[in-house]
Amino acid sequence: MSKLGTERVISVHHWNDTLFSFRTTRDPGLRFNNGQFVMIGLETEGRPLTRAYSIASPNYEEHLEFFSIKVQNGPLTSRLQHLQPGDPIVVSRKPTGTLVLDDVRPGRNLYLLSTGTGLAPFMSVIQDPETYERFDKVILTHGVRYVSELAYADFITNELPKNEFFGEAVAEKLLYYPSVTREPFRNQGRLTALLDSGKLTADLGLDPLDPEHDRAMICGSAAMLKDFRTLLDSRGFKVSKHIGDQGDYVIEHAFIEK
Ligand code: A2P
Repeated sequence: MSKLGTERVISVHHWNDTLFSFRTTRDPGLRFNNGQFVMIGLETEGRPLTRAYSIASPNYEEHLEFFSIKVQNGPLTSRLQHLQPGDPIVVSRKPTGTLVLDDVRPGRNLYLLSTGTGLAPFMSVIQDPETYERFDKVILTHGVRYVSELAYADFITNELPKNEFFGEAVAEKLLYYPSVTREPFRNQGRLTALLDSGKLTADLGLDPLDPEHDRAMICGSAAMLKDFRTLLDSRGFKVSKHIGDQGDYVIEHAFIEK
């Protein structure tokens, strides 16, 4: 494992009973590509207990931000959810990962397909001005069970388009498509079904999915990743197999259950 450092919690935001975000200090020497992850955790009985977390903040910010579930009996998140400003937190010094824009072939539309906390790396990607330089439309999807899990919705729709440096590009290019599966909402159903049926693209006024001009980045549970891969592969999309291999779509290979 890569070497660990210690940062401090700056702030904590609880979205609901099951989700929270927190910001930490950042070692000025820590460099990363938007979409990458680090190992983070806590010292327990003198040993660090860590898990892979995507960095939700863009790489030009002074702080780091993370988005996490709260599992009541989870070894790490049962404790992480009680973090307070000033608390120490272990952060690995070597960010890595395959969910990066560099490995996405040039194209017209970039689909960011996420469920649950899989939104985290895309919060970093949508705050990267290069994303808007490379694509005509950036479609951020977020599939959740309940409306209260649509974290960052206000930031995405109201704050980001006002960004003083690239807000105009966001307003023109970013399409946000949240969908809820277990209670009424304007978009309902699993993202896989909505994309497969053509409803998602039709709702957004986009052409049907086509490997000729569409690109994707996928982040969610192992089952969600598998289903999206099957869908995209069957439509002729090619996955990026490793860092440096450009594909029509990228996934986080480290998050796949082996
Ligand atoms: P559903 O409510 O039908 O299970 P989870 O919290 O379990 O990761 O789920 C987050 C969201 O992702 C839920 O809306 C859930 O829908 C959906 N989901 C779960 N599994 C898949 C899958 N294999 N493909 C697409 N969406 C999925």
